[in-house]
Amino acid sequence: MKKLAAIRKAKSLFLKWGLDGVVHPFDTGLKNAVYMSDMSRWRKAHPVTGYNDFYQTDWNYERRYELYEALDKQEGLFSQPLDYFEFGVAGGHSFKWWLAHNAVEGSRFRGFDTFEGLPEKWGPFEKGAMAVELDSLNIHDPRATFYKGLFQQTLIPFLESYKPGNRKVIHLDADLFSATIFALSQLYRFLRPGDILLFDEFAVPQHEFLAFKIFTESFYVDYEVIGAANNYLFVAVKIK
Ligand SMILES: C[S@@+](CC[C@H](N)C(=O)[O-])C[C@H]1O[C@@H](n2cnc3c(N)ncnc32)[C@H](O)[C@@H]1O
Repeated sequence: MKKLAAIRKAKSLFLKWGLDGVVHPFDTGLKNAVYMSDMSRWRKAHPVTGYNDFYQTDWNYERRYELYEALDKQEGLFSQPLDYFEFGVAGGHSFKWWLAHNAVEGSRFRGFDTFEGLPEKWGPFEKGAMAVELDSLNIHDPRATFYKGLFQQTLIPFLESYKPGNRKVIHLDADLFSATIFALSQLYRFLRPGDILLFDEFAVPQHEFLAFKIFTESFYVDYEVIGAANNYLFVAVKIK
């Protein structure tokens, strides 16, 4: 009890003396070190049961398509009806890839994006970076629908009338912690065993990884890591 009281007192004094001024300059470095270490521990605790190209000496963005191909071999994703969701469509590269590779008539593809770029700064990318006009995507497949605006504004109205049916592939490619945790927490009640979460920037420990960690630990989500590529930049997780 004495120890607890001393800890509480130290915390109160931290606030009283405004010690954030001393810690704040080292904030980013400290957080990066802690989250990177969390990610390293997570990796050891969650062996990948399927495709994994770790370790690569270089980063190659095209490796995400190798992961998608491997996921098809493991899970038959190109030949079954899917409810494919993409959070972060931008120029539509991954969205078009999935549309082209899953030709099943009953599949539905939904893309969410501001189409006005990132709503916040992300690393070296300023707010507004990655803006792409929705019309310029030139996607006319009747199975595809787009929801323009912040996820924080478009997802809840969409989910009010969404009836889950097909197996879901949920592609989280918004880069940001805020966008990723918001999408995951709203989709939580629709997740079913077998659904797949795909991450495109998982190895950024203070964004997609942190959102996934907080989400799975807070909602007690049970999962299996079924694929990883590009040194865990791209990760696929199957809900149990
Ligand atoms: C890396 S890009 C997506 C790349 C795309 N999947 C591709 O393969 O070309 C990230 C996108 O997420 C979108 N985004 C990030 N946070 C968002 C939010 N809260 N609401 C809507 N869109 C968001 C940005 O507008 C940006 O277009």
